[in-house]
Amino acid sequence: MGFSKTFLTRKEFEMCGIFGIISENKFSSTDILASLKKLEYRGYDSAGIAMTGGSLYIEKSVGKISELEKKLKLFSGNAGISQTRWATTGAVTEKNAHPHLDCSKKIAVVHNGIVENYLELKKDLTKNGHKFESETDTEVIAHLLENNAPDKVLEMLEGRNAFVALKDGKIIVAKNGSPLAVGVGENVNYIASDALPFLDKTKTVIFLEDGDVAELTNSNIKFYGQQREPQHIDWTIEDAKKGTYSHYLIKEIMEQPMTINAAVAQNDEKINEISRMINSSFGSFFVACGTASHAALAASYFFAKIANKHINFCVGSEFSSHKHFLTDKSLVIAISQSGESADTLEAIKIAKEKSAKIISIVNVPGSTISRQSDYCFLTNAGPEIAVCSTKAFTSQLSVALLFAYAAAGKLEEGKELLKETSKHVREMLTTEFTEKIKLLSKKIAQKEHLYVIGKGFNYPISLETALKIKEVSYMHAEGFASGELKHGVIALIEKDTPCIAIVANDEFKQDVLNGAAEIKLRGGYIIGVSPENHEVFDFWLPVPDAGNASPIVNTIPAQLLAYYLALERGCDPDYCRNLAKSVTVK
Ligand code: F6R
Repeated sequence: MGFSKTFLTRKEFEMCGIFGIISENKFSSTDILASLKKLEYRGYDSAGIAMTGGSLYIEKSVGKISELEKKLKLFSGNAGISQTRWATTGAVTEKNAHPHLDCSKKIAVVHNGIVENYLELKKDLTKNGHKFESETDTEVIAHLLENNAPDKVLEMLEGRNAFVALKDGKIIVAKNGSPLAVGVGENVNYIASDALPFLDKTKTVIFLEDGDVAELTNSNIKFYGQQREPQHIDWTIEDAKKGTYSHYLIKEIMEQPMTINAAVAQNDEKINEISRMINSSFGSFFVACGTASHAALAASYFFAKIANKHINFCVGSEFSSHKHFLTDKSLVIAISQSGESADTLEAIKIAKEKSAKIISIVNVPGSTISRQSDYCFLTNAGPEIAVCSTKAFTSQLSVALLFAYAAAGKLEEGKELLKETSKHVREMLTTEFTEKIKLLSKKIAQKEHLYVIGKGFNYPISLETALKIKEVSYMHAEGFASGELKHGVIALIEKDTPCIAIVANDEFKQDVLNGAAEIKLRGGYIIGVSPENHEVFDFWLPVPDAGNASPIVNTIPAQLLAYYLALERGCDPDYCRNLAKSVTVK
């Protein structure tokens, strides 16, 4: 997933945040930027704005939105669009920042996606006399809009694209792949990559479907094809603010006692119905990417032990190799925070072609995965803004555990366990515990490598611990099944190499302790995450004994350690290098 400051190879990332507004009452350029900032987690290498109010005002800047703010004129108008960019095609320069203009400089376009055939389109347009000013694929959209209807333009673009254009005092919106949501207000309408930027103004939202093209005025939303119905969303804007915390990451870690409870608050009937479907299914899969894939792997362990039911696990990008096993009796249970991960969506598409049913566990209401599923369960964790996923992960684990208990006919027992677990997590998140983690992070901050071992339910947590540490603090970390380290990687253990051993009070306790002892013999520094202190530990991080919910409590130290290691190593915990919050490209 390499990112060069100048060019990202195509197909790597397709991110960016789009925000636009069209209103009867005038608003200012600063209002637009205040809303755009809520999308900064989607991309932050350059930003730009276009507004109409008599004339067309355009401003762009390289860097975060705060850089654009420094140059911004106080302009007032009735319609405006803006974008925070995560470069895909064209270097990170002011010229390549969005919006882009047509030849007459009257049409402004912002875009999220990759126009895969932009070179051909550009060649044709150039032949016909169009002049280009940037290296981007986006600029072709502005030129195409000069002579073509917007729905025609969308059809001409290959790849996953969403664009928003300011033309003739109206806002045109078009989506194919990348997400767009319209916020419906009173004599004002909004458009954004997700609902967060307008949540403080309206909770009435239309999530655009692929192929949708619409024209927004302040009082009307005219679809070119099928009209879409608005829906109400429950998130509050307070959920999306940092409050008194210095970073979203720590805020979201601290929210987990609440979010675990919210994840448990599911409709019992629906859970029981789904668990019956799971029990009678055959050849089913949990599918997800990244952190969500660790929840999916844990889910397959939960089902094996608690419900005595085998469910396969596969990461989204590998799923096509397993499609031959799918039948109309199979279920694909997709887990995703954003509900937009392209690899997970691709797996869903494949599963549908094989007539399998889709169940999803998703955090963002109205997201593409939620809409493409036969049954969707929301994790109810509220907006997750930090690029690295924390509270969504423990919510995914919670819902998966509930499913497993329900499949075993023990839903009430599962609910009780999770309520207890939420209390445990609350008790863990004390100053005393965070001070201990700070101390540990100071001790190991300068180390090059870190290894994590776990077994059974906590093997996926060893993978998640390593991922958290890598993506936020950029320290190299690897997670292993405790029995695996000795099959090769133990060769890397040197004096004082930090190794986290996740030792739950379960049937694998001794196995993991044996693994830790082998590492210690080679000089490793053993950090134990465990309800009890053991002789082999050099540093003990005490966690409550949460029984089958041990993966949830064992995740908390990992998240905190990643956060404090990031601070110690001078990294911004909210914005991980080279990473985007929703990876909407394969
Ligand atoms: C890591 C992280 C990513 C996501 C992955 C899937 O902290 O956030 O690994 O988990 O990109 O994203 P979703 O869950 O949105 O499908």
